[in-house]
Amino acid sequence: MQMPKAENTKSQTPGRTSIRRAAASLAKGKLVILPTETVYGLGADARNDDAVRRIFRAKGRPDFNPLIVHIPDIKAAKALAEFNDTAHTLAKAFWPGPLTLVLPKRADSGLSPAVTAGLETVALRAPAHAVMRAVLRESGLPVAAPSANPSGRLSPTEIDHLDPAILREAEMVLDGGPCERGLESTVVLPGKDSVLILRPGVITAEDITERTGLTATDADGEGPAGIRSPGQLLRHYSPKLPLRRNAVRAEEGEFHIGFGTIKGRISLSPAGDLEEAARNLFAALHAAESSGATAIAIAPIPDEGLGRAINDRLIRAAGKSAG
Ligand code: TXA
Ligand code: MG
Repeated sequence: MQMPKAENTKSQTPGRTSIRRAAASLAKGKLVILPTETVYGLGADARNDDAVRRIFRAKGRPDFNPLIVHIPDIKAAKALAEFNDTAHTLAKAFWPGPLTLVLPKRADSGLSPAVTAGLETVALRAPAHAVMRAVLRESGLPVAAPSANPSGRLSPTEIDHLDPAILREAEMVLDGGPCERGLESTVVLPGKDSVLILRPGVITAEDITERTGLTATDADGEGPAGIRSPGQLLRHYSPKLPLRRNAVRAEEGEFHIGFGTIKGRISLSPAGDLEEAARNLFAALHAAESSGATAIAIAPIPDEGLGRAINDRLIRAAGKSAG
C-alpha cells in the first residue's frame, strides 16, 4: 500500500535551514531520511552506537548485515579505512558517485562496531546527490545509511515510497524528489589489480574497465570467505506480491511491467534503454504493489551491462528463500 501523502508530516524541502536541521539531528543521534542519487537512505552518525543500533531496529535488519558509511570525499574516507592503489584509482574515477568500496577498517576509525557488523572491513561511498553532500559537509560526520526500507522490502526512490514504520523512527525527511539513478550502488572489493563486484549496481563491470583499465568480475554473491557482501545472502528487494520474470504477456490478475517492444501496463523503458529502466524499476514495482493486482509479471530484461543489476534485483524479488 502506498502511504497517503498527508500522513508524512516530516518531509522538508531541502534548503539551507533544513540541511542545517538535518545535520544537527544527526549530531544528536537522531535518524534522518536523506536523498541520494541511487535510493533514499536512513541515515545516522556512524560513530554513535545507539543511533546505529536504532537503524537496525527501525529496519528490522539482521545485525550481521553491515551498513554503508557515507563520506564527502577520498580525504574523509582515508580517515576511516586503508586504501590500496586499486581503491584509490576507483575512488578517483567514480567518486562522488554510486560506487561503494569495501576496505580494511582503520583501528582509529572511531566507527561504531555495529556499523560494520563486527567485520574488519568497512563499506564506504561518497554519494553524488547535492543534498546528501550538503548534509555530509554541514555535519562533518560519517553517515551510516542503508536504503530507507524495512529489511526485505523494496528500496524507496521517492518520498511516497517510504514505509510508515520507517517514517515513524525518523526525526525528519529531506525530500530530494525522485532519485536520479533508482538502483543501489555497486559494492566492490578492490583487489591488488582487479575488482570483485560483491553487489551489482549502477556502475557496471564494463564501466569499471572502461574508466580504469581494471578487470572487474562478478562474485555472484559469493566472494572470498568472510568478505562476501552479507546483504546478498538475503532475499532482498522483495515486493509484497509474487513476481514472474521474462513475461511476454500477463496472465489473469497480473500487473504487467513492460520493457522495449513488450508494452505492459506500464513500461520500464519503451525505448529499451537500461539506464531508464533502472531508474524506473522500484517505482514500477511500488506501483504494481498498490494497484490491486494479485501478482506481478515483468518483461525480459537483457542480462548485459546495467541489465545485470536489474536482473539481480528481480531474481531476488522472485526468489523463494527467506530473509
Ligand atoms: O546506493 C546505496 O548503496 C544505498 C544508498 C543509501 O547509499 N545504500 C544501500 O545500503 O543500498 P544497504 O544497507 O541497503 O546495502 C548495503 C550493502 C549490503 O548488501 C551489505 O551487506 C553490504 O553493502 N556491505 C556493507 N558493509 C560491507 C562489508 N564490510 N563487506 C561486505 N559487504 C558490505
Ligand atoms: Mg537495501
